[in-house]
Amino acid sequence: MVDSRLAVVVLAAGAGTRMKSAKPKVLHELAGLPILGHVLATARELDPAHVLTVVRHERDAVASAISDLLPEATIVDQDEIPGTGRAVEVALHALPEGFDGEVVVVSGDVPLLDAQTLAGLIAAHRGSGAGATVLSAILDDATGYGRIVRGTDGSLDRIVEHKDATDDERAITEINSGTYVFRAPDLREQLAKVGTDNAQAEKYLTDVLGLLRQAQVPIDAVPVAESWLVNGINDRAQLADTAGRLNAMIVRGWQLAGVTILDPASTWIDLKVKLEPDVEILPNTQLKGATTIASGAVVGPDTTLVDTEVGANAVVKRTDATLSVIGEGATVGPWAYLRPNTKLAADGKIGTFVETKNATIGEGSKVPHLSYIGDTEVGVGANVGAGTITANYDGVNKHRTVVGSHVRTGSHNVFVAPVRIGDGAYTGAGTVVRKDVPAGALAINVAPQRNMDGWVSKNRPGTKAAEAAESGS
Ligand code: UD1
Ligand code: CA
Repeated sequence: MVDSRLAVVVLAAGAGTRMKSAKPKVLHELAGLPILGHVLATARELDPAHVLTVVRHERDAVASAISDLLPEATIVDQDEIPGTGRAVEVALHALPEGFDGEVVVVSGDVPLLDAQTLAGLIAAHRGSGAGATVLSAILDDATGYGRIVRGTDGSLDRIVEHKDATDDERAITEINSGTYVFRAPDLREQLAKVGTDNAQAEKYLTDVLGLLRQAQVPIDAVPVAESWLVNGINDRAQLADTAGRLNAMIVRGWQLAGVTILDPASTWIDLKVKLEPDVEILPNTQLKGATTIASGAVVGPDTTLVDTEVGANAVVKRTDATLSVIGEGATVGPWAYLRPNTKLAADGKIGTFVETKNATIGEGSKVPHLSYIGDTEVGVGANVGAGTITANYDGVNKHRTVVGSHVRTGSHNVFVAPVRIGDGAYTGAGTVVRKDVPAGALAINVAPQRNMDGWVSKNRPGTKAAEAAESGS
């Protein structure tokens, strides 16, 4: 049910300088979803009446991602005044006038924070009647973070940013996670008083805490259960660390759901992937996008599947596949490359060093060795000989090849498209099929072989070949 008294503000206007990237920081991906996508998904789970996302740096790219990720979010533009305090202030202007519920503030660069933790923070805040409740964390190395300064009685006094802190304050290991719940009227009132007289000349959201305290409004800081939940991503090393931690959780989740994953460290699974029990994943495998794998299938080692559907009991080894369908009981690889719109039916085979694209291969049909099969339809029970290539491209246009059911084509054929090989037809080895082959026919177009007797002795005298020819048979 929608919580009509709840607004979530997601801060995503910062420059993300430490990423050193042309791409906005919050659009870098973890488990197939932008950093910001994780944060918006969490915000949505709280079912708030309002989600406001503050943008400025790379505004259009970030705003268009938000529209895709969470269309109901309101996009708020921060002006030229810098700082997290200003970001929240402009977000408040976008709320209905007189909104007096709770405002949750989260950072767009903290992707692992879950809705359960936030719901706990909101409940604690509402229960205590504080004007503001901060989610804190205890870190071994607090460098860079704002520090939680508590009074002698242990209650929260204020937050001091690392760059503004004294040596004594820098020794504090309890940090501000950048996640807060505020009472809207208190937040509005105190933000108006925050200035930019600090080391970064920014309007700090964190100053609101000290101001509330001075105004005798109770404030509180609650440590998070596990500090990694509030890992912020500021640079690529933190991106990799956080991606690794998330992946480890995803892998473990699938293991507990009945999937055998031999080597969690080399297995990468995107959030949207779906696996059935008794799937087996071998080392060095990446499962990306909307990939699904049915029960009994064995995938890997050394396999990357993107948006690919794998049927029950299929075996997919050392394969790279995108937007493809691999049928039940089919086998693929080792060393196969399935490009978009490859559809291999049940019990079919795409074998070693085979590339396919826009190809439908019927039930039980095989393309076992060294082939390129593009823009092709193969019927059922057919066998495409080793080393066969579809010449589908005339330099300007692509053309289709149709291979009927139960066809047997010889090794090293070229199918020059558009061309059709009828049901049950055969072709000889080395045939360049330029014309349609009727059903049941044998097509051969290689030149007849001519043997020139004694050619080696006459033209290559004294060679080992000539010697062998003379003494051999
Ligand atoms: C902030 C906190 C710090 C806390 C840390 C936790 C302040 C002043 N400091 O520091 O106490 O320990 O987060 O990770 O709040 N942003 C805007 N507009 C801006 C500036 C930032 O929207 O003008 C957004 C950023 O995109 C980011 C978030 O606010 O999502 C935090 O900004 P960042 O610059 O990373 O703050 P920190 O220095 O990490
Ligand atoms: Ca940060």
